[in-house]
This record gives sequence, C-alpha cells and structure tokens, in this order.
Amino acid sequence: MAVTTTPMLTALQVMQDAPVIPVIVLNDVAHAVPMARALVAGGIRMLEVTLRTPQALACMEAIAKEVPGAVVGAGTVRSPADAAAAAKAGAQFAVSPGYTRAVGQACRDHGLSLLPGVATGSDIMMAQEDGYTELKFFPAMQAGGPAMLKAWSGPFFDVKFCPTGGVTPANALDFLSLTNVACVGGSWLVPADALAQGDWRRLESMAREASHLSR
Ligand code: 3PG
Repeated sequence: MAVTTTPMLTALQVMQDAPVIPVIVLNDVAHAVPMARALVAGGIRMLEVTLRTPQALACMEAIAKEVPGAVVGAGTVRSPADAAAAAKAGAQFAVSPGYTRAVGQACRDHGLSLLPGVATGSDIMMAQEDGYTELKFFPAMQAGGPAMLKAWSGPFFDVKFCPTGGVTPANALDFLSLTNVACVGGSWLVPADALAQGDWRRLESMAREASHLSR
C-alpha cells in the first residue's frame, strides 16, 4: 500500500499564487518548455497541464526538469492511475473535473495537492467530508456562473473556489471580485495558435496581463 506523502504545497497556495491558473493542452513536447518559460516570465507559475493528449506526461516532465520557476500541475485527473502518472512526471498538484474518493486518496498517496471539481451542493459536501475546502467550480459558466458562487457563499462560507470553464478576460473580474473566489482557471492564456506559431512573446504578455488582474 502506498504511503501517504505530504504535498509540497497546499491547494490554497496553488490558488493564491496568481489570479489565473492556465488550463493547458499540449500536443507537442517541444512546446512545453518555451511555453512554461513565457508564462513564468509573465508572472504565472502554477501551470495546469491537462491529461488530454498523449504528450501531456512528457510535457510535464520536461517543464518540471527544465523550468525551475514553474510549478507543474496535472489537469483532467480522473482516476488513481492518472494521479500516479502525474506525480511520477513531476506534477505537484492535481485538478480534477469532478471528485471521487479514490482520486482523492491517490492524490494524497502521491503527495499531490488536489483541487477537486464540483458543480452542485452535494459535490461540495462530498469533497468537504474528505477534508477539501479549496475546490474547482466546473464548468463555471455553464453551471451557474458568478450568481451560483454568490449563492454558495452562504451555506459554504468556509470554501474557496477556482471557477473554470467559460472564464475569459471579459468576465474574469466578475468571478475574482467574489469573496469566495481565490483565482480562476482558463484555457485562454495558452491559445493553440500561439503554440503553433511559437509566439512566446504573446504568451508572456497575456500572462503578464492575467497576473495583474485584481482580486
Ligand atoms: C477545463 O478544461 O478545465 C475547462 O473547460 C477550461 O475551460 P475554458 O476552455 O472555457 O477556459
């Protein structure tokens, strides 16, 4: 049986490092390091690389080894096997689109702090039962947007959220101004065309803008 490993950083530290956690989809390992360097140069260090492509784990490994200023996280963690593979590749935190007790346990076993995905009050209560108080609200816009978070701030006064899904530069402040929002997640910071063009300056300047969004 795996031994529970203490994460190197807490979920709250992951959420409080910058106003935005980029949700990253990488199809080419060659993009990983220059992309991470650009985001870090722009002030975004917590990088959620999603387990949605065959290259994702190799990308995490490259960033973890070669970009000391970056903190690699794994997104789209849906199973204990995903958590194990992400930890092996150097991830320090995990983000999941939903929550299961098995995924929570695997993350604890492998020393990954976890932002579990929730979309309903029952989801929140399940995650809280297992000790989670920092949660990803997903898919944020589709599941009720800022109004939903405002409603949750009553009964779930002790929870902080990272809304993700449909968050854009245009609506990010609507979320970030809420007292129960610590940061937002979004894919807009790493557009596929910027990756394809190797436009690292664009990524850096978008990261800089995002890192200055006020909370
Ligand atoms: C995710 O994949 O976690 C979110 O769907 C990202 O959503 P976005 O592409 O709307 O930012």
